[in-house]
Amino acid sequence: METVRTRAAMQARVATLRDKGARLGLVPTMGALHAGHLALLDTARAGIDFVVASVFVNPTQFGPGEDFERYPRDLEADARMLAGAGCDLLFAPAASDMYASDARTVVEVGSMGDVLCGRSRPGHFRGVTTVVAKLFHLVQPQVAVFGRKDAQQAVILGRMVRDLDWPVELRVVPTVRDPDGLAMSSRNAYLGPEERREALLLHEALGAGRDALQQGERHGPAIAARMRGVLDRGSQLIIDYAAVVDPGTLAPLEAVAGRVLLAVAAFVGRTRLIDNFVLEVQGDGVRDAPLLGWSDGPHAGGTR
Ligand code: PAJ
Repeated sequence: METVRTRAAMQARVATLRDKGARLGLVPTMGALHAGHLALLDTARAGIDFVVASVFVNPTQFGPGEDFERYPRDLEADARMLAGAGCDLLFAPAASDMYASDARTVVEVGSMGDVLCGRSRPGHFRGVTTVVAKLFHLVQPQVAVFGRKDAQQAVILGRMVRDLDWPVELRVVPTVRDPDGLAMSSRNAYLGPEERREALLLHEALGAGRDALQQGERHGPAIAARMRGVLDRGSQLIIDYAAVVDPGTLAPLEAVAGRVLLAVAAFVGRTRLIDNFVLEVQGDGVRDAPLLGWSDGPHAGGTR
């Protein structure tokens, strides 16, 4: 596996690859890699000649008082995992190289970035769309892969790509979980044993939301209340939101019909965790559904 540490070297490498007609896949990450990230790499490979993974803890998507400083960083371990998973190139730029000190231009997807996680993390999604736009320009991938775990991020990036006519296919991979149901996350490393037990309530809450749908409940706020009821059992857990929204627009759903995104976010101790289910209601039935209807079908592997 090659490692590239600067934007200039990345652009030079991409130029040669494209001259050879290679199809490029990109997996953007912030490192501290786990099996969820590796599932994205597997999905990136289908129909692709050369897979690039980026590891960059992006300062512009962290707010004041968030965990930018203490975010886990271990580039050597990440490089070993990526090489073992068949990644062709690791792009790991320094923040000083990625952002000029007087950089001003941003990409913003309007009010979709102000709801759900955006309410408690103002500016977060502007940081995400801006850095992903830069990565798309630097790597020029034909395919880019994201996780359903960060559903709002994937929906917003889907909108960015559509609105700006980006010639890149987004693939969204179902959430990879620990055997007990906890969604894998680099931030799980922050959790003590008791906190980790409480963190399981997020997955349980989503299960309660799905049960409510299966029992015929179709009123969005009533389903959200059921999810909240489960999260309320956590003694060290502070609910950020429990929401039932339209996966296309992220707007709250009064009446559920068709696809629905059940999403929860909570602080467990100091650690902010998120999780979601994407479901589809058809008649009396409820089943798992893709997040971006037009992309995460055939290549999506893993577990919900
Ligand atoms: P990071 O949190 O490192 O996640 C990188 C990618 O891995 C994201 O697309 C995320 O949704 C996916 N991912 C994380 N945990 C997952 C899991 N358990 N199952 C499946 N996929 C999972 O998301 C970011 O970084 C950043 O915002 C980034 C897009 C890199 C921009 O800085």
